[in-house]
Amino acid sequence: MRSLKPLDAAVESVEQATGLDPAVAATKKAVDAALPSATVRDALHGVWLGHPLHPAIMLVPLGSWISASVLDLLPRRGTQGAAQTLVGLGVLGAVPTIAAGAADWTDLHPRQQRTGLVHAAANTAGLVLQIASWRARRQDRHVRGALLSIAALGLGTAGAYLGGHLAYRQGGGTNHAERAPYDLPDAWTRLCALEDLADGTPTRLLLDDVPVFVLRRGRQVDVLFDQCAHLSGPLSEGELTGSGDDVCVTCPWHGSVFRLKDGQVRRGPSTYPQPVLRVRVDADDSVHARLGEDD
Ligand code: FES
Repeated sequence: MRSLKPLDAAVESVEQATGLDPAVAATKKAVDAALPSATVRDALHGVWLGHPLHPAIMLVPLGSWISASVLDLLPRRGTQGAAQTLVGLGVLGAVPTIAAGAADWTDLHPRQQRTGLVHAAANTAGLVLQIASWRARRQDRHVRGALLSIAALGLGTAGAYLGGHLAYRQGGGTNHAERAPYDLPDAWTRLCALEDLADGTPTRLLLDDVPVFVLRRGRQVDVLFDQCAHLSGPLSEGELTGSGDDVCVTCPWHGSVFRLKDGQVRRGPSTYPQPVLRVRVDADDSVHARLGEDD
């Protein structure tokens, strides 16, 4: 039987807490209603950045609030105004941070969403305390403001721990196609015969035991790593859109769209491109594929 450290056991119980599911469903419904635009969602995911926006932008509130508490602890006088400004800056920075996190959260698996919900609850409680701190400081109640900020940072630390667990342990923000360069062959490897491929219909084949998405169009064959970079969805079960050089596949799980030519993300939630293989069709119509740039 697996033995868990106490903190791991506590977090794992959150993952398994099906009692959270009604709250997850209600929150998801509210987030979906608040963010109906796919363009806005992509901006919040960080598709334009090629990196998830949420972990990058959270440095604004977190950095501001930690800096304010450091100023609070300094014995020098005259830093109270700066500390109040930093608390206010953190509150303002929390707004896009929450929006980016909410956009990412709606496209996660159920266990990940439970962890994400508790992560968001802890951070929201911390935000409420930081707002109260800013109001107290504005009324020249600086000791009360400093204490509220410390309490808020405690909640924020718990929220950050859960966020780290969600991203790294549960893989809720990592690149799920990252293993492609390690698993796929770097040398030309026979995939199949051209005649084995139905024209215009994606299929899933194994290349050196690694699942790949394969699409034949005449004598042109596109091959991509089959597991979606977002959360490992099977791209070979996805729908095709576009034409010519702009043909794309839509992941059947959460709707990320990747261009076949270069794996570029055309629509999130994935912010990572999909690995594309080089393909060679020989005179005997055997199809070979490999990763890598050079011949
Ligand atoms: S697995 Fe989520 S979009 Fe593909």
